[in-house]
Amino acid sequence: MEEVLTLDGIILRPQALPVRPNWEKIFGCSAPLVLEIGIGNGEFLVWLAEQNPAVNCVGVEIDRDYLLKARNRVKSADLRNVRLVPMEGSKALSRLFAPETLTALYLNFPDPWHKERHKERRLVNEAFAWLLASRLVNKGQFLMVTDYEPYAQEAIAAFTACPAYEPLWETPLRTELSGYYHTKYARKWSELGRSFFYIGFRKVRTVELPEWVLRTYPLASLRGDEIMPHVLLQTSQPTDWQTLWKSMPKGLLWQQGSDVVNVKDCYLGDNCIIADLVVTEGRLMQRFFASIHAHREGIMVKVHDASHPDFTQGVHRAIALLALTVKKFLPNAKLHHHTCDGRTWREAVEYLSEVNSPESTCTPN
Ligand SMILES: C[S@@+](CC[C@H](N)C(=O)[O-])C[C@H]1O[C@@H](n2cnc3c(N)ncnc32)[C@H](O)[C@@H]1O
Repeated sequence: MEEVLTLDGIILRPQALPVRPNWEKIFGCSAPLVLEIGIGNGEFLVWLAEQNPAVNCVGVEIDRDYLLKARNRVKSADLRNVRLVPMEGSKALSRLFAPETLTALYLNFPDPWHKERHKERRLVNEAFAWLLASRLVNKGQFLMVTDYEPYAQEAIAAFTACPAYEPLWETPLRTELSGYYHTKYARKWSELGRSFFYIGFRKVRTVELPEWVLRTYPLASLRGDEIMPHVLLQTSQPTDWQTLWKSMPKGLLWQQGSDVVNVKDCYLGDNCIIADLVVTEGRLMQRFFASIHAHREGIMVKVHDASHPDFTQGVHRAIALLALTVKKFLPNAKLHHHTCDGRTWREAVEYLSEVNSPESTCTPN
């Protein structure tokens, strides 16, 4: 298992990681599990793992250069209790960790996204506090340090609003925490004489994740055994692929609030069309290829074999919409069968019939 998951024994390959992998198997031992999101050059994680040799430490990071620096640091320290994952933090938290498995989450100087219009990109908000509550064990801790006080206040408001937590200290915010490691950013702010803010909460209550949180993090409800959506259209006449390709829509295929299915482009191949799709659901964005190809019964629409999105409702919806769009352009095509989620399929049928109804079609004056 280890060889499939990692090339160097430290960095795990996200494509090889199943939904909620068995961390005991990955580390080769059973031990409390802690996570750091946004590890930067990895110095905090290495410090933490050295201080706690009987704890398994996972670090996630989206920046490749930082990740490689962190890997080198872990290697030089010859640590066996650290694994790194190149993955966005909320995706990692919702996809890689089963409920009640994490002993602690650390966030050291998460990007504050200062601009008001970028605020919603911040990792920590009320939905995140809920998601983490489901992943932490009872008495599990959240520790965050930031140099940006508005973000600190926002994090406090988010964790206070979730009934799972109580503050770690008398007040949830401190400007000093003795014994806590000072990362590169902490040293930078210290040298400039600037303050930074520690926030600490402990999980004291088990909570059920509300529906709105599950919609924000669609991977949180994934079981890992979801079936791949495909649609088979039966056709009695040969397909004119060139004409079909020219008819394929580009751009927005579906939208509900900020959830969208977008067709970036379509490519024509031999008896097939490849669609480049972007599906956004809550905080999750997945880009993948779908293939529309000749089948002995007619035309098959499915996720392309070279793409590996998680089979969320959004991916089911995208395949359903794509297949129904293809069907619209082929008057002789009939639905043979599909494996799309039932509700998503019905919504796609309804949506396209509304979009294509004469009332919603603009007629020139
Ligand atoms: C300001 S740096 C702090 C680095 C390190 N924690 C330290 O204190 O030195 C923020 C780090 O978080 C990473 N990062 C930002 N947003 C992230 C996310 N959503 N998921 C994972 N990593 C993220 C960035 O690439 C960067 O390495």
